[in-house]
Amino acid sequence: MTSEHLRAAEAGRSPLSALEQRARELLDPAHYDYFAGGAGDEITLADNEHAFRRLALLPRVLRDTTGRSSAIDLLGDPSSMPVFVCPTAFHRLAHPDGERATARGVAAAGLVMIASMAGTVPIGEVTAAAREIDRDARVWFQLYLHPEPEVTEELVRRGERAGCTALVVTVDSPVRSRRFREDLHGFHDLPAGMYAENMRGLPGTTGNGLRSIAMSAEFTWEHLRRLRELTRLPVVLKGILHPEDARLAVEHGADAIVVSNHGGRQLDPASATLDALPAISAAVAGRIPVYLDGGVRRGSDVVLALALGATAVGVGRPVLWGLTVGGDKGVTDVLDTLRSEFEHTLTMCGVADLSDLNADLVTVRGAARS
Ligand code: GLV
Repeated sequence: MTSEHLRAAEAGRSPLSALEQRARELLDPAHYDYFAGGAGDEITLADNEHAFRRLALLPRVLRDTTGRSSAIDLLGDPSSMPVFVCPTAFHRLAHPDGERATARGVAAAGLVMIASMAGTVPIGEVTAAAREIDRDARVWFQLYLHPEPEVTEELVRRGERAGCTALVVTVDSPVRSRRFREDLHGFHDLPAGMYAENMRGLPGTTGNGLRSIAMSAEFTWEHLRRLRELTRLPVVLKGILHPEDARLAVEHGADAIVVSNHGGRQLDPASATLDALPAISAAVAGRIPVYLDGGVRRGSDVVLALALGATAVGVGRPVLWGLTVGGDKGVTDVLDTLRSEFEHTLTMCGVADLSDLNADLVTVRGAARS
């Protein structure tokens, strides 16, 4: 533990929330609020984290856990632990090297980065930066479907040409959400000199690309079928909260789903992702991997989510705080902190193999008293 961790613990804060404080001091307030904020009353934003605090672990004892490995594969891509980096937009607001630095930091941690379509560095430069660190580093590409099929297709090709190994389609954004913090600062545009690089040259692109990130209420499962026909890459659907949609995703050939409420940034109040996970995991019944993001701030959160049926979890905002404070090294530090907490909790819980993680290890806090 570093002295910084100790100071954070003294102040009653986890290392990652202490890091958020430092990032906040460095960032332009409008940019901090863009990253940190959520939709509506930010009920979902807070509840994603609180959902983890409502649960507790029931550890097992006297089990040899010394040979355990945390490595898994995510749709065939190697990952040093069941954690990936969620897509988040506009990393150059956090650090001059933007997504390049994030990619280097994530690759150094041996994890998969999901790069956002709304990146401020072209996706080909993101994958190249990751591979400078590790030839086998894997980057997935997140995109929205666009009303114009040629725009969706071009984005898919940009991801493919960059060597991304999966596409992650965000399905929880039929319209732009209402975020008071963005309105407060009038943050509706990128600063001069910054551009949503993956949108460059696409039909309808205006200004710095920000407004061309189209959302549309017209999409149906039929559009997913068309996307599947466009590409051989695995397709992951991000933004599932209802078990019936999880079932439909399997039926329509999704390769994986992410239980996600967009970090509390779209519908408020949407269910906390951890609360939605057990029913989704039951509905999917092991047919495809179920990932989860939202509110993961501790290695013990990773353990709880895996015990309730997630194959892996995504971490978003803490990576942005690490990027702000320390560039690529800051990103790796965040992921290594999570790793060390995750390993520690697994050992404390007597988990000898990740497949031992199941709901028997989890109870509701206060349950015995009620
Ligand atoms: C973009 O997806 C955002 O949440 O700002």
